[in-house]
Amino acid sequence: MKVLIINGPNLNLLGKREPDKYGNESLEQINAQLQRHAKKNSIELETFQSNHEGEIVDKIQTAKDRGIDAIIINPAAYTHTSVAIRDALLSVNIPSIEVHLSNIYKREEFRHHSMISDIAAGQITGFGSKGYFLALDAVKDLKTKS
Ligand code: DQA
Repeated sequence: MKVLIINGPNLNLLGKREPDKYGNESLEQINAQLQRHAKKNSIELETFQSNHEGEIVDKIQTAKDRGIDAIIINPAAYTHTSVAIRDALLSVNIPSIEVHLSNIYKREEFRHHSMISDIAAGQITGFGSKGYFLALDAVKDLKTKS
Protein backbone atom coordinates (compact mmCIF):
# COMPACT_ATOMS: atom_id res chain seq x y z
CA MET A 1 0.00 0.00 0.00
CA LYS A 2 1.22 3.49 -0.90
CA VAL A 3 0.31 6.51 1.22
CA LEU A 4 0.96 10.20 0.62
CA ILE A 5 1.14 12.62 3.55
CA ILE A 6 0.70 16.26 2.57
CA ASN A 7 1.45 19.16 4.91
CA GLY A 8 0.42 22.69 4.03
CA PRO A 9 1.81 26.17 4.68
CA ASN A 10 4.02 26.97 7.67
CA LEU A 11 4.24 23.35 8.76
CA ASN A 12 7.85 23.41 7.55
CA LEU A 13 8.39 25.54 10.69
CA LEU A 14 7.19 22.89 13.14
CA GLY A 15 9.32 22.89 16.27
CA LYS A 16 9.94 26.65 15.97
CA ARG A 17 6.41 27.83 15.22
CA GLU A 18 4.11 28.40 18.24
CA PRO A 19 5.40 25.29 20.05
CA ASP A 20 2.65 25.61 22.69
CA LYS A 21 0.15 24.78 19.93
CA TYR A 22 2.17 22.64 17.54
CA GLY A 23 4.85 20.94 19.66
CA ASN A 24 8.65 20.92 19.70
CA GLU A 25 9.39 18.36 17.02
CA SER A 26 10.46 19.43 13.55
CA LEU A 27 8.64 18.13 10.48
CA GLU A 28 11.81 16.23 9.52
CA GLN A 29 11.78 14.43 12.90
CA ILE A 30 8.09 13.60 12.60
CA ASN A 31 8.51 12.37 9.03
CA ALA A 32 11.47 10.16 9.99
CA GLN A 33 9.37 8.50 12.71
CA LEU A 34 6.44 8.16 10.31
CA GLN A 35 8.70 6.44 7.77
CA ARG A 36 9.71 3.88 10.42
CA HIS A 37 6.08 3.36 11.47
CA ALA A 38 5.01 2.95 7.85
CA LYS A 39 7.77 0.43 7.15
CA LYS A 40 6.73 -1.71 10.14
CA ASN A 41 3.20 -1.74 8.72
CA SER A 42 4.30 -2.51 5.15
CA ILE A 43 3.23 0.91 3.92
CA GLU A 44 5.25 2.78 1.33
CA LEU A 45 5.19 6.40 2.45
CA GLU A 46 5.68 9.59 0.45
CA THR A 47 5.78 12.87 2.37
CA PHE A 48 5.32 16.34 0.90
CA GLN A 49 5.16 19.84 2.35
CA SER A 50 4.45 23.05 0.51
CA ASN A 51 3.59 26.63 1.33
CA HIS A 52 1.91 26.96 -2.08
CA GLU A 53 -1.68 26.00 -2.78
CA GLY A 54 -1.05 25.17 -6.46
CA GLU A 55 1.81 22.82 -5.61
CA ILE A 56 -0.47 20.94 -3.23
CA VAL A 57 -3.12 20.72 -5.96
CA ASP A 58 -0.49 19.39 -8.41
CA LYS A 59 0.65 16.78 -5.89
CA ILE A 60 -2.93 15.55 -5.37
CA GLN A 61 -3.68 15.50 -9.11
CA THR A 62 -0.65 13.34 -9.88
CA ALA A 63 -1.08 10.98 -6.90
CA LYS A 64 -2.97 8.41 -8.98
CA ASP A 65 -0.09 8.19 -11.51
CA ARG A 66 2.26 7.37 -8.64
CA GLY A 67 -0.05 4.60 -7.41
CA ILE A 68 -1.08 6.33 -4.18
CA ASP A 69 -3.85 4.42 -2.37
CA ALA A 70 -4.64 6.98 0.35
CA ILE A 71 -3.86 10.61 1.19
CA ILE A 72 -3.31 11.95 4.70
CA ILE A 73 -3.52 15.72 4.59
CA ASN A 74 -2.99 18.60 6.98
CA PRO A 75 -3.83 21.54 4.71
CA ALA A 76 -2.93 23.97 7.57
CA ALA A 77 -4.37 27.44 6.86
CA TYR A 78 -5.73 26.23 3.50
CA THR A 79 -8.08 23.97 5.48
CA HIS A 80 -10.31 26.94 6.05
CA THR A 81 -10.15 28.55 2.62
CA SER A 82 -9.16 26.27 -0.23
CA VAL A 83 -11.81 25.30 -2.73
CA ALA A 84 -8.91 24.30 -5.02
CA ILE A 85 -7.59 21.64 -2.61
CA ARG A 86 -11.13 20.38 -2.01
CA ASP A 87 -11.73 20.12 -5.78
CA ALA A 88 -8.39 18.36 -6.31
CA LEU A 89 -9.28 15.76 -3.65
CA LEU A 90 -12.69 15.31 -5.28
CA SER A 91 -11.11 14.89 -8.70
CA VAL A 92 -9.01 11.88 -7.69
CA ASN A 93 -10.62 8.67 -6.60
CA ILE A 94 -8.36 8.34 -3.56
CA PRO A 95 -9.63 8.25 0.04
CA SER A 96 -8.24 10.91 2.38
CA ILE A 97 -7.85 11.53 6.10
CA GLU A 98 -7.64 15.09 7.45
CA VAL A 99 -5.19 15.71 10.29
CA HIS A 100 -4.60 18.74 12.51
CA LEU A 101 -2.04 18.97 15.28
CA SER A 102 -4.14 21.39 17.34
CA ASN A 103 -7.83 20.97 18.08
CA ILE A 104 -9.23 23.40 15.52
CA TYR A 105 -12.60 23.45 17.34
CA LYS A 106 -11.02 24.85 20.52
CA ARG A 107 -9.47 27.77 18.63
CA GLU A 108 -10.68 30.89 16.80
CA GLU A 109 -14.04 30.52 15.10
CA PHE A 110 -12.59 30.89 11.59
CA ARG A 111 -10.69 27.62 12.19
CA HIS A 112 -13.87 25.69 13.02
CA HIS A 113 -14.80 25.28 9.38
CA SER A 114 -12.87 22.90 7.18
CA MET A 115 -13.30 22.88 3.40
CA ILE A 116 -12.53 19.16 3.28
CA SER A 117 -14.00 17.52 6.38
CA ASP A 118 -17.18 16.43 4.56
CA ILE A 119 -15.26 14.78 1.73
CA ALA A 120 -12.55 13.15 3.88
CA ALA A 121 -13.02 9.64 5.24
CA GLY A 122 -12.39 11.12 8.68
CA GLN A 123 -10.69 13.84 10.66
CA ILE A 124 -8.14 13.63 13.50
CA THR A 125 -7.63 16.89 15.36
CA GLY A 126 -5.91 17.89 18.60
CA PHE A 127 -3.49 15.02 19.25
CA GLY A 128 -0.33 16.74 18.04
CA SER A 129 1.96 14.74 15.75
CA LYS A 130 0.35 11.54 17.05
CA GLY A 131 -2.51 12.36 14.68
CA TYR A 132 -0.41 11.40 11.66
CA PHE A 133 0.37 8.00 13.24
CA LEU A 134 -3.31 7.44 14.07
CA ALA A 135 -4.15 8.30 10.47
CA LEU A 136 -1.53 5.84 9.18
CA ASP A 137 -3.09 3.15 11.37
CA ALA A 138 -6.58 4.02 10.08
CA VAL A 139 -5.57 4.19 6.44
CA LYS A 140 -5.33 0.47 5.97
CA ASP A 141 -9.08 0.05 6.49
CA LEU A 142 -10.06 2.70 3.97
CA LYS A 143 -11.87 1.60 0.87
CA THR A 144 -11.37 3.33 -2.44
CA LYS A 145 -14.32 5.59 -3.19
CA SER A 146 -16.44 4.57 -6.15
C1 DQA B 1 -3.41 23.37 11.71
C2 DQA B 1 -4.57 24.25 12.16
C3 DQA B 1 -4.80 25.40 11.18
O1 DQA B 1 -5.89 26.21 11.61
C4 DQA B 1 -3.57 26.26 11.10
O2 DQA B 1 -3.73 27.27 10.12
C5 DQA B 1 -2.32 25.48 10.84
C6 DQA B 1 -2.15 24.17 11.48
C7 DQA B 1 -3.06 22.28 12.74
O3 DQA B 1 -2.37 21.33 12.36
O4 DQA B 1 -3.45 22.38 13.91
O5 DQA B 1 -1.40 25.96 10.19
O6 DQA B 1 -3.80 22.72 10.51
